[in-house]
Amino acid sequence: MGTATVPFHGPRQAGVAQDPPAHAAFVAFTLATGTDRRALGRMLRLLSDDAARLTQGTPALGDTDATLATLPARLSVTFGFGPGLYRAAGLASPVADLPKFPIDRLEKRWSGGDLLLQICSDDPLTVAHTQRMLVKDARPFAAVRWVQQGFRRSPGVQAPGHTQRNVLGQLDGTANPRGAEVDTAVWNPDGSTTLVLRRIRAEIEKWDLLSGTDKENATGRRLASGAPLSGTGEHDEPDFTALDDAGLPTMPDYAHVTRARVTDPAQKILRRPYNYDGVPDALGRPDAGLLFASYQRDIARQFVPIQQRLADKDLLNQWITPIGSAVFAVPPGCPEGGWIGQQALG
Ligand code: HEM
Repeated sequence: MGTATVPFHGPRQAGVAQDPPAHAAFVAFTLATGTDRRALGRMLRLLSDDAARLTQGTPALGDTDATLATLPARLSVTFGFGPGLYRAAGLASPVADLPKFPIDRLEKRWSGGDLLLQICSDDPLTVAHTQRMLVKDARPFAAVRWVQQGFRRSPGVQAPGHTQRNVLGQLDGTANPRGAEVDTAVWNPDGSTTLVLRRIRAEIEKWDLLSGTDKENATGRRLASGAPLSGTGEHDEPDFTALDDAGLPTMPDYAHVTRARVTDPAQKILRRPYNYDGVPDALGRPDAGLLFASYQRDIARQFVPIQQRLADKDLLNQWITPIGSAVFAVPPGCPEGGWIGQQALG
């Protein structure tokens, strides 16, 4: 349990295809002026070494609290490079900022970033310790821009393999690509992928005013079972041609699932969202929602068309608001003795 590890070294980075651990911190940095290609190499060598040790339950070099490193609990550290990192290195960026969507109410404090470290573990103390070590070693090169902490159901509470529930009470993750589909949707031949992270506030107080039926119509799936409105089991294929007694589509045209559906495996995205739950405001209204993390080979070809269709028409839009947005290239993994980013920057 606590000693469980996820390999750090390999052709692809960890923290993407693995079953998501219960806790995550997404830590974005802004590079210091003068952090050029050579300095980036120095920083990434250091951070890769830290991540390689910590994920295997070994203290980082110069670890200020070695005892906190011994229970990694499936710790993974995933590196993402924003467009600004490539600019600083004098290289063309494989990722570009997203187009503006009419539903967006983006705040700078949750958006952008030159470097991202996605730290995931089943133990929040391990996440905190890992974050502290990595931020300490990044300090000469980059300043923390934002940190977004999220959580999912813990493995001790629900066996892995079950679909988690999000803060809106929905089963979230049902139609994700699986098995060989993940290779097609997520991994480029060189082992790279991309990450879109959207902070999406849930208007839970408004959502709570809805009847169960209205909530189910907004997504097109049943709350209790996650089954499509046209079926009975969570993993039944939705039937978008089915009609109800009144002759209306059983899966509403503007339901989230109807709008988000993609059939071509090469166009799918791998959703790896975490819930967030901040401090309620003075009136007791929750500050909660999703850290919507989506992995795909190509953001423009896969993520953007889905997001565009949802931004145009999605019943769920009345109860969700994107307030943060960032894109990152996720470079290939590295072999032992190598470092993340070596192919591009070395
Ligand atoms: C707070 C925001 C969101 C909530 C609460 C939410 C919730 C859900 C739920 C409950 C499902 C059905 C179960 C499942 O397959 O996981 C679903 C499916 C899906 N969502 Fe979202 N979602 C959100 C944002 C987004 C965004 C931003 C995108 C992409 C731009 C997206 C893309 C999808 C896709 C592709 C599916 C699967 C559709 C299918 O093929 O059946 N969602 N979402």
